[in-house]
Amino acid sequence: MTYTQEKQSKANQAFDKEDWSSAYKNVEKELTNEPLNTIKGGNIYELNGTLFRNGPGILERGGQWVHHPFDGDGMITAIKFDNGKPSLTNKFVRTKGFLEEKKINKFIYRGVFGTQKSGGILNNALDLKFKNIANTHVVKLGNEILALWEAAGPHALDPNNLDTIGLTTLSGVLKTNEAFSAHPKSDFNSNASSELLVTFGVQTGPKSTIRLMEFSNAGENSGELIVDRKDTFNGFAFLHDFAITTNWAIFLQNAIDFNPLPFVMGQKGAAQCLKSNPNKKAKFFIIPRESGLFKGQPPITIDAPDGFVFHHVNAFEKDSNIILDSIFYDDFPSVGPDENFRDINFDNYPEGNLKRSIINLKGKTSTLETLSSQCCEFATVNPKFLGLKASYSWMACTDKKIGNAPLQAIKKINLNTKEEISWSAAPSGFVSEPIMVPSKASNKEDEGYIFVLLWNGKRRGSDLVILDAKDLKELAIYELPISIPHGLHGSWVNN
Ligand code: CO
Repeated sequence: MTYTQEKQSKANQAFDKEDWSSAYKNVEKELTNEPLNTIKGGNIYELNGTLFRNGPGILERGGQWVHHPFDGDGMITAIKFDNGKPSLTNKFVRTKGFLEEKKINKFIYRGVFGTQKSGGILNNALDLKFKNIANTHVVKLGNEILALWEAAGPHALDPNNLDTIGLTTLSGVLKTNEAFSAHPKSDFNSNASSELLVTFGVQTGPKSTIRLMEFSNAGENSGELIVDRKDTFNGFAFLHDFAITTNWAIFLQNAIDFNPLPFVMGQKGAAQCLKSNPNKKAKFFIIPRESGLFKGQPPITIDAPDGFVFHHVNAFEKDSNIILDSIFYDDFPSVGPDENFRDINFDNYPEGNLKRSIINLKGKTSTLETLSSQCCEFATVNPKFLGLKASYSWMACTDKKIGNAPLQAIKKINLNTKEEISWSAAPSGFVSEPIMVPSKASNKEDEGYIFVLLWNGKRRGSDLVILDAKDLKELAIYELPISIPHGLHGSWVNN
Protein backbone atom coordinates (compact mmCIF):
# COMPACT_ATOMS: atom_id res chain seq x y z
CA MET A 1 0.00 0.00 0.00
CA THR A 2 1.34 3.43 -0.82
CA TYR A 3 1.27 6.47 1.43
CA THR A 4 -1.43 8.30 -0.48
CA GLN A 5 -3.70 5.25 -0.45
CA GLU A 6 -3.10 4.77 3.27
CA LYS A 7 -4.08 8.37 3.85
CA GLN A 8 -7.31 8.03 1.90
CA SER A 9 -8.29 4.91 3.83
CA LYS A 10 -7.61 6.56 7.18
CA ALA A 11 -8.73 10.06 6.40
CA ASN A 12 -8.83 12.54 9.28
CA GLN A 13 -6.89 10.33 11.66
CA ALA A 14 -4.47 12.22 13.85
CA PHE A 15 -0.93 10.91 14.21
CA ASP A 16 0.02 8.53 16.99
CA LYS A 17 2.76 10.12 19.10
CA GLU A 18 4.57 6.80 19.49
CA ASP A 19 4.71 6.34 15.72
CA TRP A 20 6.53 9.69 15.66
CA SER A 21 8.78 9.31 18.72
CA SER A 22 9.81 5.74 17.84
CA ALA A 23 12.25 7.28 15.33
CA TYR A 24 14.36 8.55 18.23
CA LYS A 25 16.75 5.71 18.90
CA ASN A 26 20.42 5.02 18.26
CA VAL A 27 21.51 3.94 14.79
CA GLU A 28 22.88 0.49 15.44
CA LYS A 29 24.75 -0.51 12.31
CA GLU A 30 27.06 0.92 9.70
CA LEU A 31 26.56 -0.53 6.22
CA THR A 32 28.48 -0.27 2.94
CA ASN A 33 26.85 -0.35 -0.50
CA GLU A 34 23.79 -2.22 0.73
CA PRO A 35 21.13 -2.55 -2.02
CA LEU A 36 17.66 -1.21 -1.19
CA ASN A 37 14.39 -3.16 -1.30
CA THR A 38 11.95 -1.66 -3.78
CA ILE A 39 8.44 -1.22 -2.37
CA LYS A 40 6.96 0.69 -5.27
CA GLY A 41 7.97 1.86 -8.75
CA GLY A 42 11.05 1.10 -10.78
CA ASN A 43 14.54 2.51 -11.01
CA ILE A 44 14.75 5.99 -12.51
CA TYR A 45 17.51 5.54 -15.08
CA GLU A 46 18.59 9.17 -15.33
CA LEU A 47 19.55 9.24 -11.63
CA ASN A 48 23.34 9.05 -11.35
CA GLY A 49 24.56 10.60 -8.15
CA THR A 50 24.41 10.39 -4.38
CA LEU A 51 21.92 11.67 -1.86
CA PHE A 52 23.87 12.63 1.27
CA ARG A 53 22.04 13.22 4.55
CA ASN A 54 23.19 14.21 8.01
CA GLY A 55 21.45 14.03 11.38
CA PRO A 56 21.79 12.80 14.95
CA GLY A 57 22.56 9.06 15.16
CA ILE A 58 23.32 8.66 18.89
CA LEU A 59 20.58 9.82 21.23
CA GLU A 60 21.33 7.73 24.30
CA ARG A 61 24.48 6.43 25.98
CA GLY A 62 24.63 4.19 29.05
CA GLY A 63 20.95 4.85 29.78
CA GLN A 64 21.20 8.67 29.56
CA TRP A 65 19.23 10.38 26.80
CA VAL A 66 20.29 13.60 25.10
CA HIS A 67 18.07 16.49 26.19
CA HIS A 68 17.41 17.51 22.58
CA PRO A 69 17.98 15.49 19.39
CA PHE A 70 20.16 18.35 18.02
CA ASP A 71 22.75 17.25 20.62
CA GLY A 72 23.13 13.79 18.99
CA ASP A 73 26.35 12.78 17.21
CA GLY A 74 26.32 13.18 13.43
CA MET A 75 25.63 10.10 11.29
CA ILE A 76 25.93 10.37 7.51
CA THR A 77 23.74 8.38 5.15
CA ALA A 78 24.74 8.19 1.47
CA ILE A 79 22.31 6.63 -1.00
CA LYS A 80 24.10 6.19 -4.30
CA PHE A 81 22.22 5.78 -7.58
CA ASP A 82 23.84 4.03 -10.55
CA ASN A 83 21.51 4.42 -13.52
CA GLY A 84 18.73 4.64 -10.98
CA LYS A 85 19.75 1.59 -8.92
CA PRO A 86 20.19 2.64 -5.26
CA SER A 87 22.56 1.36 -2.57
CA LEU A 88 23.17 2.70 0.94
CA THR A 89 26.30 3.43 2.95
CA ASN A 90 26.10 4.97 6.43
CA LYS A 91 28.74 5.95 8.95
CA PHE A 92 29.13 8.03 12.09
CA VAL A 93 31.46 11.00 11.82
CA ARG A 94 34.48 10.07 13.94
CA THR A 95 34.72 13.33 15.86
CA LYS A 96 37.00 13.55 18.89
CA GLY A 97 33.98 13.58 21.24
CA PHE A 98 32.26 10.65 19.50
CA LEU A 99 35.37 8.46 19.85
CA GLU A 100 35.93 9.42 23.50
CA GLU A 101 32.30 8.85 24.50
CA LYS A 102 31.96 5.63 22.50
CA LYS A 103 34.91 4.12 24.38
CA ILE A 104 33.27 4.46 27.80
CA ASN A 105 29.62 4.57 26.59
CA LYS A 106 28.87 7.74 28.56
CA PHE A 107 28.27 11.43 27.73
CA ILE A 108 31.31 13.36 28.89
CA TYR A 109 30.49 16.67 27.16
CA ARG A 110 27.57 19.02 27.68
CA GLY A 111 25.34 19.62 24.64
CA VAL A 112 24.46 23.07 23.30
CA PHE A 113 20.74 22.17 23.43
CA GLY A 114 20.69 21.15 27.09
CA THR A 115 22.24 17.67 27.40
CA GLN A 116 24.14 17.58 30.68
CA LYS A 117 26.94 15.37 31.84
CA SER A 118 25.90 13.02 34.64
CA GLY A 119 26.60 14.25 38.19
CA GLY A 120 24.08 17.09 38.36
CA ILE A 121 24.54 20.85 38.29
CA LEU A 122 27.82 20.84 40.22
CA ASN A 123 29.48 18.58 37.70
CA ASN A 124 28.28 20.79 34.81
CA ALA A 125 28.92 24.23 36.27
CA LEU A 126 31.85 26.13 34.77
CA ASP A 127 32.37 23.45 32.11
CA LEU A 128 32.11 25.43 28.87
CA LYS A 129 33.65 22.82 26.54
CA PHE A 130 31.63 21.88 23.47
CA LYS A 131 31.65 18.70 21.48
CA ASN A 132 31.81 19.37 17.72
CA ILE A 133 29.12 16.84 16.80
CA ALA A 134 29.18 17.36 13.00
CA ASN A 135 25.45 16.57 12.77
CA THR A 136 23.78 19.38 10.82
CA HIS A 137 24.53 19.27 7.09
CA VAL A 138 26.69 17.46 4.55
CA VAL A 139 27.96 19.05 1.32
CA LYS A 140 30.60 18.53 -1.35
CA LEU A 141 33.50 20.98 -1.54
CA GLY A 142 36.25 20.21 -4.07
CA ASN A 143 37.00 16.48 -3.80
CA GLU A 144 35.77 16.10 -0.27
CA ILE A 145 32.50 15.74 1.56
CA LEU A 146 32.15 18.00 4.61
CA ALA A 147 30.10 17.18 7.71
CA LEU A 148 29.09 20.53 9.22
CA TRP A 149 28.23 21.90 12.66
CA GLU A 150 28.02 25.68 12.79
CA ALA A 151 29.91 26.51 16.00
CA ALA A 152 33.17 24.83 14.96
CA GLY A 153 35.18 23.62 11.95
CA PRO A 154 34.05 21.10 9.30
CA HIS A 155 35.00 17.41 9.28
CA ALA A 156 36.24 16.12 5.90
CA LEU A 157 34.96 12.70 4.78
CA ASP A 158 35.98 10.34 2.00
CA PRO A 159 33.07 10.57 -0.51
CA ASN A 160 33.35 6.87 -1.43
CA ASN A 161 33.19 5.15 1.94
CA LEU A 162 32.34 8.06 4.32
CA ASP A 163 35.50 7.43 6.36
CA THR A 164 36.35 10.46 8.49
CA ILE A 165 39.54 12.11 7.23
CA GLY A 166 39.42 14.59 10.12
CA LEU A 167 38.73 18.13 11.20
CA THR A 168 39.85 20.32 8.29
CA THR A 169 41.06 23.91 7.90
CA LEU A 170 40.27 23.72 4.14
CA SER A 171 43.94 24.08 3.18
CA GLY A 172 44.56 26.82 5.72
CA VAL A 173 41.48 28.94 4.96
CA LEU A 174 40.13 28.42 8.49
CA LYS A 175 41.85 28.67 11.82
CA THR A 176 41.61 25.39 13.76
CA ASN A 177 37.99 24.99 14.82
CA GLU A 178 36.91 28.36 13.38
CA ALA A 179 33.10 28.59 13.15
CA PHE A 180 31.85 27.48 9.72
CA SER A 181 28.12 27.67 9.01
CA ALA A 182 26.07 24.53 8.43
CA HIS A 183 24.18 26.28 5.61
CA PRO A 184 26.47 26.81 2.62
CA LYS A 185 24.77 27.69 -0.66
CA SER A 186 25.64 26.11 -4.00
CA ASP A 187 25.52 29.00 -6.44
CA PHE A 188 25.18 28.35 -10.18
CA ASN A 189 24.30 31.97 -10.97
CA SER A 190 27.25 34.06 -9.77
CA ASN A 191 29.34 36.39 -11.90
CA ALA A 192 32.49 34.48 -10.94
CA SER A 193 32.37 30.82 -11.87
CA SER A 194 30.21 27.93 -13.08
CA GLU A 195 29.60 26.77 -9.53
CA LEU A 196 30.48 28.37 -6.21
CA LEU A 197 29.98 27.30 -2.63
CA VAL A 198 29.13 30.45 -0.66
CA THR A 199 29.18 30.25 3.10
CA PHE A 200 29.98 32.12 6.32
CA GLY A 201 31.28 31.82 9.84
CA VAL A 202 30.19 34.02 12.72
CA GLN A 203 32.16 35.02 15.78
CA THR A 204 29.72 36.39 18.28
CA GLY A 205 29.86 38.49 21.43
CA PRO A 206 28.85 42.08 22.28
CA LYS A 207 29.86 42.69 18.66
CA SER A 208 29.58 39.98 16.00
CA THR A 209 31.83 39.42 13.00
CA ILE A 210 30.56 37.64 9.90
CA ARG A 211 33.18 36.12 7.61
CA LEU A 212 31.72 35.59 4.13
CA MET A 213 33.61 33.04 2.01
CA GLU A 214 33.15 32.00 -1.63
CA PHE A 215 34.82 28.82 -2.90
CA SER A 216 35.07 27.54 -6.44
CA ASN A 217 33.25 24.19 -6.54
CA ALA A 218 33.82 22.97 -10.11
CA GLY A 219 36.65 22.70 -12.63
CA GLU A 220 40.38 22.80 -12.07
CA ASN A 221 40.45 25.02 -8.99
CA SER A 222 37.51 23.28 -7.31
CA GLY A 223 37.71 23.67 -3.54
CA GLU A 224 39.79 26.89 -3.62
CA LEU A 225 38.74 30.03 -1.79
CA ILE A 226 38.11 32.75 -4.38
CA VAL A 227 36.94 35.72 -2.30
CA ASP A 228 36.56 36.43 1.39
CA ARG A 229 35.45 39.40 3.52
CA LYS A 230 34.72 40.23 7.15
CA ASP A 231 32.13 42.66 8.53
CA THR A 232 31.45 43.54 12.15
CA PHE A 233 28.00 44.43 13.52
CA ASN A 234 26.80 45.54 16.94
CA GLY A 235 25.17 43.01 19.21
CA PHE A 236 24.96 39.28 19.81
CA ALA A 237 24.16 37.47 16.54
CA PHE A 238 22.48 34.08 16.30
CA LEU A 239 22.78 33.28 12.59
CA HIS A 240 21.94 29.71 11.58
CA ASP A 241 21.25 30.34 7.90
CA PHE A 242 21.49 33.09 5.26
CA ALA A 243 20.39 33.73 1.68
CA ILE A 244 22.19 34.90 -1.43
CA THR A 245 21.39 36.71 -4.63
CA THR A 246 23.90 37.32 -7.44
CA ASN A 247 25.24 40.42 -5.70
CA TRP A 248 24.27 40.17 -2.03
CA ALA A 249 24.42 37.92 1.02
CA ILE A 250 21.45 38.47 3.34
CA PHE A 251 21.46 37.74 7.09
CA LEU A 252 18.59 38.14 9.53
CA GLN A 253 19.63 38.88 13.09
CA ASN A 254 16.73 37.79 15.29
CA ALA A 255 15.75 40.05 18.20
CA ILE A 256 17.03 37.72 20.88
CA ASP A 257 19.33 37.99 23.86
CA PHE A 258 21.82 35.49 25.17
CA ASN A 259 22.09 35.27 28.96
CA PRO A 260 25.00 32.89 29.56
CA LEU A 261 24.61 32.66 33.35
CA PRO A 262 22.41 29.50 33.59
CA PHE A 263 24.77 27.84 31.11
CA VAL A 264 27.90 28.79 33.05
CA MET A 265 26.20 27.69 36.30
CA GLY A 266 25.46 24.27 34.82
CA GLN A 267 21.66 24.62 34.81
CA LYS A 268 20.94 24.95 31.10
CA GLY A 269 22.45 24.33 27.68
CA ALA A 270 23.75 27.36 25.76
CA ALA A 271 20.86 27.34 23.27
CA GLN A 272 18.35 27.26 26.16
CA CYS A 273 19.78 30.64 27.24
CA LEU A 274 18.50 32.35 24.07
CA LYS A 275 15.38 34.41 24.67
CA SER A 276 13.32 36.74 22.49
CA ASN A 277 13.57 40.37 23.51
CA PRO A 278 10.33 42.18 22.62
CA ASN A 279 12.04 45.55 23.12
CA LYS A 280 14.64 44.85 20.48
CA LYS A 281 14.32 45.15 16.71
CA ALA A 282 15.43 42.35 14.38
CA LYS A 283 17.90 43.49 11.70
CA PHE A 284 18.81 42.52 8.17
CA PHE A 285 22.55 42.61 7.53
CA ILE A 286 23.01 42.84 3.79
CA ILE A 287 26.59 42.27 2.71
CA PRO A 288 27.83 42.89 -0.85
CA ARG A 289 29.36 39.76 -2.34
CA GLU A 290 32.97 40.11 -3.42
CA SER A 291 32.09 38.17 -6.59
CA GLY A 292 29.31 40.66 -7.34
CA LEU A 293 28.82 44.18 -8.71
CA PHE A 294 29.08 45.96 -5.33
CA LYS A 295 32.27 44.37 -4.03
CA GLY A 296 34.26 46.43 -1.55
CA GLN A 297 31.22 48.48 -0.52
CA PRO A 298 30.07 48.56 3.12
CA PRO A 299 27.16 46.39 4.30
CA ILE A 300 23.64 47.79 4.71
CA THR A 301 21.65 47.36 7.93
CA ILE A 302 17.84 47.55 7.76
CA ASP A 303 15.15 46.92 10.43
CA ALA A 304 13.55 43.50 9.92
CA PRO A 305 10.04 42.21 10.71
CA ASP A 306 9.27 40.69 14.14
CA GLY A 307 9.55 36.93 14.55
CA PHE A 308 12.22 34.27 14.69
CA VAL A 309 13.85 32.60 11.68
CA PHE A 310 16.10 29.54 11.48
CA HIS A 311 15.87 28.92 7.74
CA HIS A 312 15.55 30.97 4.62
CA VAL A 313 14.22 29.57 1.37
CA ASN A 314 15.58 31.82 -1.36
CA ALA A 315 16.18 35.45 -2.25
CA PHE A 316 16.31 37.45 -5.48
CA GLU A 317 16.88 41.01 -6.66
CA LYS A 318 14.09 43.08 -8.17
CA ASP A 319 14.87 46.71 -9.05
CA SER A 320 16.27 48.18 -5.82
CA ASN A 321 14.56 45.53 -3.67
CA ILE A 322 15.64 42.18 -2.33
CA ILE A 323 12.81 39.67 -2.02
CA LEU A 324 13.51 37.10 0.70
CA ASP A 325 11.39 34.06 1.57
CA SER A 326 11.86 32.54 5.04
CA ILE A 327 10.17 30.30 7.61
CA PHE A 328 9.04 32.59 10.45
CA TYR A 329 8.17 31.54 14.02
CA ASP A 330 6.44 33.84 16.51
CA ASP A 331 9.11 33.00 19.06
CA PHE A 332 12.30 30.99 19.54
CA PRO A 333 11.31 27.33 20.03
CA SER A 334 13.34 25.64 22.78
CA VAL A 335 12.87 22.45 24.81
CA GLY A 336 12.98 23.61 28.46
CA PRO A 337 15.16 21.90 31.10
CA ASP A 338 12.22 19.92 32.56
CA GLU A 339 10.68 18.75 29.28
CA ASN A 340 11.17 15.42 27.47
CA PHE A 341 11.71 16.00 23.74
CA ARG A 342 10.12 12.62 22.88
CA ASP A 343 6.89 13.56 24.60
CA ILE A 344 6.39 17.23 23.76
CA ASN A 345 2.97 18.75 23.28
CA PHE A 346 3.12 20.23 19.78
CA ASP A 347 0.36 22.72 20.66
CA ASN A 348 2.76 24.44 23.10
CA TYR A 349 5.40 25.16 20.48
CA PRO A 350 5.39 27.95 17.92
CA GLU A 351 4.86 26.84 14.31
CA GLY A 352 6.80 27.83 11.21
CA ASN A 353 5.06 29.78 8.43
CA LEU A 354 6.33 30.69 4.98
CA LYS A 355 6.62 34.48 4.72
CA ARG A 356 8.10 36.92 2.21
CA SER A 357 10.15 40.00 3.18
CA ILE A 358 10.42 42.79 0.66
CA ILE A 359 13.57 44.69 1.53
CA ASN A 360 13.94 48.13 -0.02
CA LEU A 361 17.67 48.88 -0.24
CA LYS A 362 17.16 52.54 -1.20
CA GLY A 363 14.48 53.43 1.37
CA LYS A 364 16.04 51.11 3.96
CA THR A 365 12.68 49.62 4.92
CA SER A 366 11.18 46.15 4.89
CA THR A 367 7.67 44.72 4.77
CA LEU A 368 6.38 41.20 5.37
CA GLU A 369 3.63 39.16 3.75
CA THR A 370 2.45 35.61 4.47
CA LEU A 371 2.74 33.17 1.58
CA SER A 372 1.17 30.24 3.42
CA SER A 373 -0.18 29.93 6.97
CA GLN A 374 0.21 26.15 7.15
CA CYS A 375 2.94 24.97 9.55
CA CYS A 376 6.06 24.08 7.57
CA GLU A 377 9.88 23.82 7.65
CA PHE A 378 12.79 22.87 5.41
CA ALA A 379 11.67 24.71 2.27
CA THR A 380 13.76 24.63 -0.90
CA VAL A 381 13.78 25.74 -4.53
CA ASN A 382 15.24 24.16 -7.66
CA PRO A 383 19.00 24.54 -6.94
CA LYS A 384 19.61 26.01 -10.41
CA PHE A 385 17.28 28.90 -9.44
CA LEU A 386 18.95 29.71 -6.11
CA GLY A 387 19.48 33.48 -5.93
CA LEU A 388 17.11 34.09 -8.86
CA LYS A 389 13.36 34.57 -9.02
CA ALA A 390 12.04 31.05 -8.47
CA SER A 391 8.38 30.30 -9.12
CA TYR A 392 8.17 27.13 -7.03
CA SER A 393 9.17 25.98 -3.58
CA TRP A 394 8.92 22.49 -2.06
CA MET A 395 8.77 22.01 1.71
CA ALA A 396 7.90 19.70 4.59
CA CYS A 397 4.63 20.58 6.30
CA THR A 398 2.01 19.26 8.70
CA ASP A 399 -0.80 17.09 7.41
CA LYS A 400 -3.43 19.39 8.93
CA LYS A 401 -3.86 22.89 7.56
CA ILE A 402 -4.01 24.72 10.90
CA GLY A 403 -1.84 24.41 14.01
CA ASN A 404 1.40 22.71 14.95
CA ALA A 405 2.09 18.98 14.57
CA PRO A 406 4.94 16.79 13.27
CA LEU A 407 5.92 17.22 9.62
CA GLN A 408 4.06 14.54 7.65
CA ALA A 409 3.50 15.99 4.20
CA ILE A 410 5.37 17.54 1.28
CA LYS A 411 3.94 20.63 -0.33
CA LYS A 412 4.72 22.40 -3.60
CA ILE A 413 3.72 26.04 -3.68
CA ASN A 414 3.61 28.39 -6.64
CA LEU A 415 5.26 31.48 -5.14
CA ASN A 416 3.56 33.78 -7.67
CA THR A 417 -0.02 32.56 -7.35
CA LYS A 418 0.18 30.84 -3.90
CA GLU A 419 -1.44 27.74 -5.44
CA GLU A 420 -0.48 24.60 -3.56
CA ILE A 421 -0.46 20.85 -4.05
CA SER A 422 0.63 18.32 -1.45
CA TRP A 423 1.51 14.69 -0.83
CA SER A 424 1.01 13.20 2.61
CA ALA A 425 2.51 10.29 4.54
CA ALA A 426 -0.06 10.63 7.36
CA PRO A 427 -1.18 9.08 9.59
CA SER A 428 1.91 6.96 10.33
CA GLY A 429 4.63 8.45 8.08
CA PHE A 430 6.85 11.41 9.07
CA VAL A 431 8.88 13.37 6.53
CA SER A 432 12.25 15.11 6.59
CA GLU A 433 13.68 17.95 4.52
CA PRO A 434 12.78 17.42 0.83
CA ILE A 435 15.69 17.62 -1.60
CA MET A 436 14.96 18.76 -5.15
CA VAL A 437 17.09 17.25 -7.93
CA PRO A 438 16.43 18.85 -11.33
CA SER A 439 15.91 16.56 -14.32
CA LYS A 440 18.91 16.54 -16.66
CA ALA A 441 16.56 16.24 -19.61
CA SER A 442 14.79 19.56 -19.00
CA ASN A 443 15.45 23.16 -18.02
CA LYS A 444 11.91 23.64 -16.72
CA GLU A 445 11.98 24.75 -13.12
CA ASP A 446 9.64 22.09 -11.74
CA GLU A 447 10.84 19.10 -13.74
CA GLY A 448 12.84 16.77 -11.57
CA TYR A 449 12.68 14.68 -8.44
CA ILE A 450 11.88 15.31 -4.79
CA PHE A 451 13.78 12.99 -2.44
CA VAL A 452 12.17 12.45 0.96
CA LEU A 453 13.64 10.34 3.73
CA LEU A 454 10.69 9.17 5.72
CA TRP A 455 10.08 7.60 9.12
CA ASN A 456 7.57 4.79 8.60
CA GLY A 457 5.90 4.68 12.01
CA LYS A 458 3.99 1.51 11.22
CA ARG A 459 7.10 -0.49 10.28
CA ARG A 460 9.29 1.41 12.80
CA GLY A 461 11.86 1.90 10.03
CA SER A 462 13.03 4.37 7.37
CA ASP A 463 11.89 4.60 3.76
CA LEU A 464 13.09 6.70 0.85
CA VAL A 465 10.34 8.18 -1.31
CA ILE A 466 10.99 9.81 -4.69
CA LEU A 467 8.22 12.13 -5.87
CA ASP A 468 7.73 13.79 -9.25
CA ALA A 469 8.61 17.46 -8.61
CA LYS A 470 5.85 18.65 -10.91
CA ASP A 471 2.77 16.88 -9.52
CA LEU A 472 4.15 15.12 -6.37
CA LYS A 473 3.14 11.68 -7.71
CA GLU A 474 5.03 8.76 -6.12
CA LEU A 475 7.68 7.53 -8.56
CA ALA A 476 9.49 5.10 -6.28
CA ILE A 477 9.52 3.95 -2.64
CA TYR A 478 12.45 2.02 -1.16
CA GLU A 479 12.77 0.40 2.25
CA LEU A 480 16.07 1.29 3.96
CA PRO A 481 18.12 -1.35 5.82
CA ILE A 482 18.73 1.03 8.77
CA SER A 483 16.46 3.09 11.00
CA ILE A 484 17.36 6.77 10.86
CA PRO A 485 16.10 9.21 13.54
CA HIS A 486 14.34 12.41 12.37
CA GLY A 487 17.28 14.23 10.81
CA LEU A 488 18.53 17.57 9.61
CA HIS A 489 19.96 18.62 6.26
CA GLY A 490 21.33 16.95 3.15
CA SER A 491 22.35 17.46 -0.46
CA TRP A 492 22.53 15.72 -3.82
CA VAL A 493 25.84 15.32 -5.65
CA ASN A 494 25.85 14.23 -9.31
CA ASN A 495 28.33 11.50 -10.31
CO1 CO B 1 19.40 24.28 9.46
